[in-house]
Amino acid sequence: MIKVLFVCLGNICRSPMAEGLFRALVEKSGLADRVQIDSAGTHGYHIGEPPDERARKAMARHGVDIGMLEGRKATAIDLEIFDYVLAMDRSNLDDLERLGGGPRPHVRLFLEFAHHSAEREVPDPYYGGPEGFERVYALLEDAAAGLLADIEQRLNRP
Ligand code: 4NP
Repeated sequence: MIKVLFVCLGNICRSPMAEGLFRALVEKSGLADRVQIDSAGTHGYHIGEPPDERARKAMARHGVDIGMLEGRKATAIDLEIFDYVLAMDRSNLDDLERLGGGPRPHVRLFLEFAHHSAEREVPDPYYGGPEGFERVYALLEDAAAGLLADIEQRLNRP
């Protein structure tokens, strides 16, 4: 089993979108029973809350329901359990590195897996309009394809 954790600040916008999008992609690829997917926030502002309505609507426009997800805070144990801990921006990555006592190779920026964009941070859409959430979706979709390819390679390695 490969375990993937997406991490943003509040766990109500970017990382639950990444979780829903990547789960749909993994299901389509037939690997659902070999890849476990979760998301968390570096801060506890929205623990137990569903994703932001704008995030839910953006995902629904792409046919993915994330309404059942609940905000939670990332813990030091997450860094031990998950094979990929993927931060949305450098501030999230800094927070994760602080949590884990330093940089670790499996704790990275999610957009390192993106092949069609040079951007390496998913911009925080919280204080903007719906177009910000569409931009987030496009960046996540790009990186999700690259991450799936990386996981497929890993699963096929002898
Ligand atoms: P997220 O967006 O990190 O993508 O979930 C945010 C959600 C909440 C806040 C900031 C960003 N907040 O300040 O409450």
